[in-house]
Order: sequence, then C-alpha cells, then structure tokens
Amino acid sequence: MSALNGRCVVLGVTGGIAAYKAAEVCRRLVGEGAHVVPVLTAGALRMVGETTFSALASEPAVTSLWNDRSGPIPHTAAGRRADAVVVCPATARLVSDLRAGRSGDVLTATLLATRAPVVLAPAMHTEMWEQPSVQENLAVLAQRGVAIVGPAEGPLAGGDSGPGRMSEPEEIVAAVEAVLTVPDLAGSRVLVTSGGTREPIDAVRFVGNRSSGKQGAAIAEEAAARGAEVVLVTTQSERAPATARVVAVETAAEMAAAVELEARLADVVVMAAAVADFRPAQPSGTKLKKDRGVPAVQLEPTADILSALGASKGPGQVLVGFAAETEDIESNALAKLRSKNLDVIVANDVSKQHVGFAHDTNEIVMFTADGARHHVPLTTKREAARAVLDMVVSLMGSVDGRPVGDHDT
Ligand code: CTP
Repeated sequence: MSALNGRCVVLGVTGGIAAYKAAEVCRRLVGEGAHVVPVLTAGALRMVGETTFSALASEPAVTSLWNDRSGPIPHTAAGRRADAVVVCPATARLVSDLRAGRSGDVLTATLLATRAPVVLAPAMHTEMWEQPSVQENLAVLAQRGVAIVGPAEGPLAGGDSGPGRMSEPEEIVAAVEAVLTVPDLAGSRVLVTSGGTREPIDAVRFVGNRSSGKQGAAIAEEAAARGAEVVLVTTQSERAPATARVVAVETAAEMAAAVELEARLADVVVMAAAVADFRPAQPSGTKLKKDRGVPAVQLEPTADILSALGASKGPGQVLVGFAAETEDIESNALAKLRSKNLDVIVANDVSKQHVGFAHDTNEIVMFTADGARHHVPLTTKREAARAVLDMVVSLMGSVDGRPVGDHDT
C-alpha cells in the first residue's frame, strides 16, 4: 500500500505561476489515498482558484488566518494534524520566511506549527534561483532536514527558459511519499533481477521473451525507497531507477555470472527476470544469410540461476522467485517454491488481461515456504512491489540464522 494512504498531507500553495500544477499534485495525492488539506496564500489566490482546490482536496482550502471555517487557529489545526507538509510552488519569499522562522501568513504559520516532515518544490526565475541568498536559505533548510525537490531546467513564465522550473507533479508526489515511507529495509542489501534474457542466434538475431522488466524495476525502486542498498541485474537498464546500482546483462549466462557474484552479499534476492530456459547451442558470429537456406537452430538448456541460489542459500537470506504461469497456477508455483528452495514465490497468471509481461499492472499470489498465501488483486506494479517487499520484511529475521545486515565484508 502507498505510504500516502490514510496520511494527512498539508498542501501549501504560494503565488508562483506554477501554482496551477499544484492542482495536479493535489489530485495525485488524493488518488494515492492521502487526506489532503490545501493551504493557499494570498499570492496563490491570484494565480489559482480556491474552489479548484476545495473541490479536488479532502476538505475546503484554508486561505487566511482570520476567516477560516475550521476554527480560530487554522494554522495549528493543520500543522498538528499533518503527517507531511508539501509546498508547491515554493517561492523565494516562502523559502526565506521558513529559514528565518517568520510567520506572516497562514502557510508560514502552519509550517512553524508543525513537527511533520516538510517538502519544498521551489519554482522561480533563474536569476532569483541563482541568488546566493536563495541558495544559502535552501542549503540551511536542507541541513535542517527539509526535503527539496527540484527545481528542473526548462521553460519558465514570460518566455524565459533555464533552471527554476518547478518539478513535475509526479516527482513532487514521490518526494512526499518518500518522507512518509518507513525505512524498514535500511541496512539491507537487496539484489533484484529484471527483464527477459536475449539468447543470440547470430550476430543480429536472438531468442527472447515478452518481459518488459517493469515489475523488477518497481521492486528495485521500492526497496531503495525503503532504505535498502539495491543492485539491479537487468536486460532493461533504460528502465532502471536511479536509486539502484545497475548491472546490465543480455544473456542468461551473463545474468547467472552477475547474480552469482552479487548474491553473496545480498540479504534479499528477488528473481523477477524472465530467464530463457533454452538458448541456441551454436550461435553464429556473423549474420545468417537467407540464400544459404532456412537454418536449423539447435537449442540447449541454460543454467537455472534461481535453483543454484536456492542450493547455496546463505543463512538468513530471503530468496524470492517468480512464476509466470498460464495454467494450474497454484500447483506450478508451489512446485517451484519447493524445488528451488525459495522462501517466497510470486505467481501470476499471464493469460489474464493486464497481468504480467509488458503491462503497467499486475495481479499476484504469493506463497511462502511456511504455508502462507497472499493474493494481491489487479493493481499497479509499484503496489505489487510493495506487497512483495512487505512479505520479505515480515520474513526477515525469521528465516534461519544470520541477522539482517550482518555481513562478513
Ligand atoms: N529462473 C532462473 N533461471 C532460469 C529459469 C528461471 O533463475 N534458467 C527463475 C526465474 O527468474 C523465476 C523462476 O526461476 O524467478 C521461475 O521461472 P519460470 O520461467 O516461471 O519457471 P521455470 O523454472 O523456468 O519452469 P517452466 O518454464 O517450465 O515453467
């Protein structure tokens, strides 16, 4: 479940032209299950309508210290209830006020009246952004633990372009989610594999499969957000999150070699990759030519990476496999769980619509070695990743032996 679900987020909006994008931030926060309290400054009200935010958020917008329906002290009410406060856009004035501890309006008063984590998404013209005073204010706020997202470089108001453009709503929501995420994998090393391997037939052709690497990338991203040190061994490195160390591979043999090396230090291994079971026995180093006739491609088996990991599993290591099935899901998955000596198998029925390969959504059933079964109905791959890692965290420490994070090197 998203770390935003059921949490109270105060959404502060100031008078920057990017205030219109705050409406989308509001919509997305509500979409992730957050209870959103919009707090708009007088400047914001010149840019966007109070009604827009009252309609999109979970309660009416707070716009003043003096005429608020929620009571005589709206800033302490909002500040105390908040699990997080995000300000987007954060103008140079807001940044300066927050650094100085000045409370000139309802938003700055709310920021002083909260103990919740604060996220700022600065937005201003490049000249303002580059002022040493602005940079110093932000550096001090960052030192105090304020999370700062962006700004990006790009088109600004008035036809200008450069650094100072507010980050996109998606990134701002991710930053809020990050400050609310419990770092329950901090100190752990997580190895994830993703994507389908490609086994060469000749210099230009390969035997492959439909795996997009999206589910593995989501697991890697979620594990990093929860504080883990993440290595992603993948055939789809362009999809890898920036928070993971990436080892790019192409074939099953390359993946096996990389995994063997990386798994030695991993507390958790999640094999989400679709590894080819067979490969051409004698790939041609040059392109096979049509006029030489139809080639007979002889296949040979590849090594089963996960079985090898299961056979050499270190004490305390949590091993997770995937099973993409089209029939007899449960019995096939359970057979793999046992034969590969896994702690968890994540099964999905890829014959169903919107499930598995290449989709942005997934429906999974997890089976554990100690007999638990957990079904996650059709959801985003990120949400499925959360469920997998919740299961992993629940097993850490209970799988025999070595405590988590107790490494030899
Ligand atoms: N796997 C692996 N090495 C292989 C084949 C599969 O590590 N050569 C891993 C996959 O990453 C996955 C799990 O084993 O986590 C199950 O893969 P799957 O393709 O569903 O099963 P297979 O064991 O290959 O059996 P089958 O294809 O007959 O269903």
